[in-house]
Amino acid sequence: MPKPLFNSSGLLPGPVLLLGAPGVGKGTQAKRLMDEFSIPQISTGDLLREHRKNQTPLGMLADDLMSKGQLVPDDMVNQMVATRLTEPDTKHGYILDGFPRTLNQAEWLDHQLIGHPLPVVAVNIVVPERDLLERITGRLSCPVCGTIYNIYSEPPKRPGICDREGAKLIQRTDDTEPVFHERMKAFQSKTAAVIEYYRSHGGRFAEINGNLPVDEVTQSIRATLFRLRHHAES
Ligand code: AP5
Ligand code: MG
Repeated sequence: MPKPLFNSSGLLPGPVLLLGAPGVGKGTQAKRLMDEFSIPQISTGDLLREHRKNQTPLGMLADDLMSKGQLVPDDMVNQMVATRLTEPDTKHGYILDGFPRTLNQAEWLDHQLIGHPLPVVAVNIVVPERDLLERITGRLSCPVCGTIYNIYSEPPKRPGICDREGAKLIQRTDDTEPVFHERMKAFQSKTAAVIEYYRSHGGRFAEINGNLPVDEVTQSIRATLFRLRHHAES
C-alpha cells in the first residue's frame, strides 16, 4: 500500500464523518475543516437542496420529504453520494456532513470504502436538545457562498446581508419549530443507531462538546482528528 502524503496541515484527513442532531454545527464546522485541510465538504442536505433547486427527479421527490423533516430513501441518497465520491477533489479525503444517517447508509459506506487506504474517522458533535431550536430558527445562510449565520449567536455585520458576498441571506424552509421536531424524531429513530454503530468501532470514533463557541469547537474537532487519524494509522 503506498504511504499516504501529508498535506500542509500535517494531516492527511481521509474520510471524515461529522455526525449529530439537526443544528449541532456540522455544516459550520465542515466549512472550517474544508479550508484547513483542503478537502471538500459533502453535505447530503446541501446536495439534496441543489437537486431541489434544479428540479431534478431526485430533487422533486426529496422536496416533500425534506419539508416534512423526513429522511430521503437510502438508495437515492447512497447513489447521490456515490456519484459525488467519483469526483477528483475527494482523492485525499472529504468531510461527509449529515451522512450516513441510517444503518443501511453506514453499511453501504463501509462497503464503498473497502480497499481505501485510510479508515473512516467519525466525530459526533453533541449539543443539548434544548439549545438546538434557537440554532435552527435563528439560522440564515448565504445563497452565494454558503456561509452560515445565526441571528442570536453568529449574526452578520449588517442584518440579513452576507458579510462576504453582500447577498441577501435566506432561511431554510425546514427551519421551523414543527419541522425541527420532526427532524429530531428522525434523528432519534434512525440516526442515533448510526452513532452507536461508529462508537462500537472504538478508536475511530469521538464525541465532542458542540455547546461551546464556534472556534473552540473547531479546535476540539481538529485535535480529535489528529488523535483519531494517528490511532487509525498506527
Ligand atoms: P441537513 O441539511 O443535513 O440538516 P440537519 O442534519 O438537520 O442539520 P442542519 O444542517 O440543520 O444543522 P448543522 O448541524 O449543519 O448545523 P449548522 O452548522 O448549520 O438535512 C436536511 C434534510 O435533508 C433532512 O431532514 C432530510 O430530509 C434530508 N437528508 C439530508 N441528508 C440525508 C441523508 N443522509 N439521508 C436521508 N435524508 C437526508 O448550525 C446551525 C446553527 O447554529 C447556525 O445558525 C449556526 O450559525 C449556529 N451555530 C453553529 N455552531 C454554533 C456554536 N458553536 N455556538 C452557537 N451557534 C452555533
Ligand atoms: Mg447542515
